[in-house]
Amino acid sequence: MRLDKYLSQATGLPRSQVKRLIKSQKVQINDAVNQDHGFQVKSGDLVLLDGREIPPPGPRYLMLYKPQDTICATEDPEHPTVIDLLDLDNIKNLHPAGRLDIDTTGLVLITDDGQWSHRVTSPRRHCDKVYLVTTEDPISPETAPAFAEGIMLRNEDQPTLPATLEQLDDCHARVTLQEGRYHQVKRMFAAMGNKVVALHRESIGSITLDEDLEPGEFRFLTAEEVASI
Ligand code: URA
Repeated sequence: MRLDKYLSQATGLPRSQVKRLIKSQKVQINDAVNQDHGFQVKSGDLVLLDGREIPPPGPRYLMLYKPQDTICATEDPEHPTVIDLLDLDNIKNLHPAGRLDIDTTGLVLITDDGQWSHRVTSPRRHCDKVYLVTTEDPISPETAPAFAEGIMLRNEDQPTLPATLEQLDDCHARVTLQEGRYHQVKRMFAAMGNKVVALHRESIGSITLDEDLEPGEFRFLTAEEVASI
């Protein structure tokens, strides 16, 4: 496939923009700068744009650093959505794999591959989600054992799956969940008589929020990250 078509289809950028990027030496193939937009990319070639690997065109997978005051949905009448933050053409079918609350920050995975996003969210897949939690009151010593055992949340008939809590200091902890029920972290702390005042997702499975990303920024996942789910 021609290089400009490959990049355009793989990133959703318009062909004209892709050609400009190729001309300005932003594209490398197999570690060498390539300025020929008609170059034929072969299977197994490593294509880099601005130093990042661009997997072959097909379904798209990306990570976004969700800022506060954005909604994990494809559209919303009042607030910007995580999809609105993507500076991409052709956003049709892209959707967040799972939800964070409007005030939660951190890692959101976005894709147009419905089966893949199901693997991210299905509790049966036990794809761990790790959150950094700040609480209003000091975290009581009973909290970690209660989370490990499973908590019966209000209006639910099944206890939560075992979760781990690593206490960082009085009011900070890292909590790992295997599932993603509605407001789950906040409700688990509420069940222990405490209140979550800030919540940030650090990782999903083995995919960790890239520390080079600022709130509101995104990047494409690597082939390894995609395959890890
Ligand atoms: N748990 C919550 O309470 N809120 C989130 O956004 C994610 C997990």
